Amino acid sequence: MPAPASRVPISALTEWWADMGVGMDTALVEALLKSAPAREAAEELSQSAAPAAPAVIRRGARTVIDWANEARAQAKAATTLEALAEAIRAFDGSPLRAACEQAVVYDGVPGASLMVIGEGPGAEEDRRGLPFVGKAGQLLDKMLAAIGRTRAENAFITNVNYWRPPGNRNPEADELAVCRPFVDRMIELVKPKLIVAAGGIPAVSLLASKDGIMKLRGNEYAFSTPGGFQAPVIPILHPAYLLRRPQDKSRAWRDLMLIEKRLAELSSG
Ligand code: URA
Repeated sequence: MPAPASRVPISALTEWWADMGVGMDTALVEALLKSAPAREAAEELSQSAAPAAPAVIRRGARTVIDWANEARAQAKAATTLEALAEAIRAFDGSPLRAACEQAVVYDGVPGASLMVIGEGPGAEEDRRGLPFVGKAGQLLDKMLAAIGRTRAENAFITNVNYWRPPGNRNPEADELAVCRPFVDRMIELVKPKLIVAAGGIPAVSLLASKDGIMKLRGNEYAFSTPGGFQAPVIPILHPAYLLRRPQDKSRAWRDLMLIEKRLAELSSG
C-alpha cells in the first residue's frame, strides 16, 4: 500500500478520531484518503449561510458605521500587536460587549506563519479570556498537532468577533462589521504566510463569499487586507461542527494535509 502523501503518520489521524470516540483502522483510513475526491456529496446547509449586510443599527448616538470607522482609526493607529489588543479591549463599539465577561483577543505566537481565525468566543473562552480553549478548542489543538503546530510554538489563533454572543449564537453582521478593522490589522501585524478560516462564519466573512463552508473548504483563496497585506486563506470545517458530525473528519483531515503542504511551500518560497 503506498504511503500517504504527508509525513504525518496515520496514527495521528486515528488518535484524534479515537479521542472523539470514532473507531478507525489504518486500512480504512488509507481507503478513505484514496477515495476522498469521489465522496464529495450532500452539503450541510447549516454551515453555509452567508451573513446579511450590516443593518444601520444605532448604539446611543452612533451607528454601526460610526463604530466601524472608529475601529478602523484605532486599528490603524496600533503599530504593535499589544497596542492593537489594548485597543480592542478598550473598544466600546460592539453590541455584545455589555453582556459578556471580557474581550477574547488572541493566543499563540505573534509572527507565526499559520494564523487560525475562528468565529468568536464561547462560554469557556469568555471565562478564561483566550480563544479556542473549550471542547472545540481542544479538538483544534489536536488537529494542529497532527500537522506539527501548537499555539505555544508556531501557531497564532484569533477570531472574527472578540465578544461572546449570548447563548453562543452566531455573531450578527453588525457585530462582525465593528470587529473587522481590528481583524484586518491583526493580520497585517502578525503577517502569517497562511490563514486558516475555521468555520463558515470566518470563511464567508473574510472572503466576502456567497458560497458556504461546504463549498469553500479545502480550497485556497487569495486574500488581502485594506492595507495591502496578502496571504492565502484555506477554510476548514469548524471543530465544533466536527464534534457534532465526526463522520466529516475525513474532510477535515484532507484539509489539514493541504494546509501542511501549502505551509511547507510558502515557507520555502
Ligand atoms: N469557537 C470559535 O470559533 N472560536 C473560539 O474562540 C472558540 C470556539
